[in-house]
Amino acid sequence: MSRFFVTTPIYYGNDAPHVGSAYSTVNADALARWHRLVGDETLFLTGTDEHGQKVADSAEQQGLSPQAWTDQTAQRFIEAWDDLNISNDDFIRTSERRHHESVQKFLTKIYENGFIYKDVYEGLYCVSCEDYYTPEALVNGNCPVHERPVITMQEENWFFRLSAFEDKLLQYYEEHPTFTTPQTKFNEAISFVKGGLKDISITRTSITWGITVPWDEKHVFYVWYDALINYLTAIGYGSDHDEVEKWWPSSNHIVGKEIIRFHCVWWPAMCMAAGLEPPAHVHVHGWLLVGGKKLGKSMASDVGIKLTDIAPRTLTAEFGVDPIRYYLLRETPFGNDGEFSFEGIIARYNTDLANNLGNLVARVATVVGSKCDGRGRAPTIDAELRAVANEVVQQVGAAWEEFAPHRALEAAWQLIGAANADLEKHAPWKMESGPEVDAVMGNALEVLRLTAILISPAMPETAEKIWHRIGLQGSPADVSFRGEASWGRYPEGLLVEKGEPLFPRIKSDA
Ligand code: MSP
Repeated sequence: MSRFFVTTPIYYGNDAPHVGSAYSTVNADALARWHRLVGDETLFLTGTDEHGQKVADSAEQQGLSPQAWTDQTAQRFIEAWDDLNISNDDFIRTSERRHHESVQKFLTKIYENGFIYKDVYEGLYCVSCEDYYTPEALVNGNCPVHERPVITMQEENWFFRLSAFEDKLLQYYEEHPTFTTPQTKFNEAISFVKGGLKDISITRTSITWGITVPWDEKHVFYVWYDALINYLTAIGYGSDHDEVEKWWPSSNHIVGKEIIRFHCVWWPAMCMAAGLEPPAHVHVHGWLLVGGKKLGKSMASDVGIKLTDIAPRTLTAEFGVDPIRYYLLRETPFGNDGEFSFEGIIARYNTDLANNLGNLVARVATVVGSKCDGRGRAPTIDAELRAVANEVVQQVGAAWEEFAPHRALEAAWQLIGAANADLEKHAPWKMESGPEVDAVMGNALEVLRLTAILISPAMPETAEKIWHRIGLQGSPADVSFRGEASWGRYPEGLLVEKGEPLFPRIKSDA
């Protein structure tokens, strides 16, 4: 059996969940569900990044201790992911004791291996990024991400000897050509390393809300150095050797493009310094933009959108959970930037969900009701749809394996489209009941059965509803994909239920 370990970035607990963070989480969830469907032993991790000055400041403003404050903020993510039907196996919070222990063990190991030393650091710091910038990296003197002023910070710090890893990283990249996908993002990491690596400061004395440096207790680890290690904490680094052996290094980190450097350069170097293999894969996606700007808490007001408008719960309350999941996965090819808009959600909803999938489900149930006494018929072996279905099953599988949810869904919708066209061609609603209608309806039902399986990673609730409407028991997510995702397995005689429309059309004002 294969294993699949997938992670999202751990989100800043200070920011409320929004559709940008939901984008990574839904992608990771669909991938985890796909891997469970094909029988892989799967571990799906998400969580919250809770240390640093920004969090301490917010807590103070709230009149709370940082721990009490993050207990509240983490809950917002737990609830948001619950609303979006996210199937994470673990939720890690960096303020947890297990994480403190792992971080201290991991960084002590790097220290003992001679890759951490003390020096004075002065630099331009963006409090929102929790990161230093070189003067050249600033845009009009501001942080390039937040477009806000940076401050000059001077500290005595512990440094990580990143410069020692230039050649090792380049060699690792060369030997692992799929370490970072897509290739364009990998190229960014490669050129960054080729441009020369400077040692980096990894501790702060100005901050107390963080993980104490065990060999120098005036310092805490800089938040990024603590955060990256979450991926190892969750699999028991420092406490459960067997679990680490089991899941590491075959991890798949899903990250947005602004954190390539951390995941594709620092993180593998840190692993090497600690005597571990670097992570196997980093899959980089683009940004959801509104009016051409990255969507997120700090940016929201700049583009005239309220954060509450883009809270996952607001969106799911208006459109439903699966339509939002579908939109996030289908609209923007993984790796590209995409424009987020309500018009875009409505267009996808009406075209793909209401007109295509919803319509197919409704038509099949109606005709089976009127021409087949409400009982399902078996598919035929020589159906034209069979060839389409077999091809689509291949394509869907390949697309998920290549981290391309949009292609997986596009392919599934080819099958849905073909089944609708087949119904129109035969117009069984105009025929007398009998073998010809039975054959057409058996084939359409078989397409619905396959569709339910194929879309279950993306739209688990819808998949299950379709499954039950055509009379099948259990869940499409629980079948053995290899055994069941092939033509001809829908059994004759099941009760087909008409039900409410799955996706009532949305009237748009446009
Ligand atoms: N805490 C760090 C990550 C540490 S991981 C060891 C962090 N947190 S964050 O809250 O800012 O979340 C960043 C991630 O959220 C991005 O990398 C991306 O995955 C997701 N997104 C946030 N806004 C986004 C968009 N507008 N569009 C797509 N994804 C976005 O960075």
